[in-house]
Amino acid sequence: MPHKTVRGENPHPNPSPEGEGLFDSKGMTMTNAKLASLMARGTEFLGCDVAILCGAMSWVSERNLVAAISNAGGFGVIACGAMTPELLDREIAATRALTSKPFGVNLITMHPQLFELIEVCAKHDVGHVVLAGGLPPKGSIEAIKAKGAKLICFAPALALAKKLVRSGVDALVVEGMEAGGHIGPVATSVLAQEILPEMASQVPVFVAGGIGRGEAIAAYLEMGAAGVQLGTRFACAIESIAHPNFKKAFFRASARDAIASVQIDPRLPVIPVRALKNAGTEAFTVKQREVANLLDSGAVDMGEAQLQIEHYWAGALRRAVIDGDVEGGSLMAGQSVGMVSKEEPVMDIIAQLMDEAAEALARRA
Ligand SMILES: Cc1cc2nc3c(=O)[nH]c(=O)nc-3n(C[C@H](O)[C@H](O)[C@H](O)COP(=O)(O)O)c2cc1C
Repeated sequence: MPHKTVRGENPHPNPSPEGEGLFDSKGMTMTNAKLASLMARGTEFLGCDVAILCGAMSWVSERNLVAAISNAGGFGVIACGAMTPELLDREIAATRALTSKPFGVNLITMHPQLFELIEVCAKHDVGHVVLAGGLPPKGSIEAIKAKGAKLICFAPALALAKKLVRSGVDALVVEGMEAGGHIGPVATSVLAQEILPEMASQVPVFVAGGIGRGEAIAAYLEMGAAGVQLGTRFACAIESIAHPNFKKAFFRASARDAIASVQIDPRLPVIPVRALKNAGTEAFTVKQREVANLLDSGAVDMGEAQLQIEHYWAGALRRAVIDGDVEGGSLMAGQSVGMVSKEEPVMDIIAQLMDEAAEALARRA
């Protein structure tokens, strides 16, 4: 079925150099009012037109993709990852040069220079900071909010969601195990049912993990979500700098190819990461067996053994995204990868998601 738009006769409006966003004041009148009203809390919180965040993806979510998402009316988020404060400073400035629309910055809690990175965000008046990788360390919530930024955190369970909100977090992302990258053990649909009824009235909650089409967006909005966060669906956008080999691997993959990393020895913890299976996945299993044998024979101690496992994937995402090493690198991807079939402009992806969501809601009316 050809792709239709709810916006009117022009399915893919040509954005101005900076982009008009999907829903300018004229377009808004033609938009499905139900969808707009379900997204209102999210768009107000984020300061954008469409309550769809592109979740930070290390190496992928840099200035080009982030600016494209925000210019298209969504909410782009820079992935700071392991960047130094100097690099983040430059990345924020470069993103600002490409868009005047709001965007956020994702910081990892265990970054050794977390507080310097928070300072950099404050210096640039970044409006929204996303903290990923665990509970916010002491003082970080206050430091982020001191300059007026809004703080978004991941809530992997209801008890933690309540604790985060009590500590002053402004919004939550509920991300299930269908997602690409580092994952928890619980499915998106279950987390959404546990957390939305209790928390959606207190703070905006954005649902993430496994979302590839607008019908799912409509469903989570109807359950009380303020919006959604997608990563995999945007990773291969035309504006994404990911290597052509990385994108090709996504186009070929189906949901079942995006598998969580497997731990084979209880003594050697493996942080679960969802990625496309490749030669690196097999080699990682072999490596775990080798290290376990070395541990058994006393050739290495526990600390050294765990370090070897922890460091195995160091630099692997960069190798896949930037260098195009799709065999040895880490092809982090969510189960929605099967719904990614070609390179498309961000504007078209967002328009398609919004059309699907609006049509789903219209069918229920
Ligand atoms: C390639 C890749 C890299 C990612 N890197 C990060 C990251 O650095 N920080 C983070 O908080 N989430 C990261 N994520 C998770 C995304 O921000 C987002 O929450 C997730 O992709 C949503 O699920 P989906 O992939 O099913 O859409 C990454 C995801 C992918 C696919």
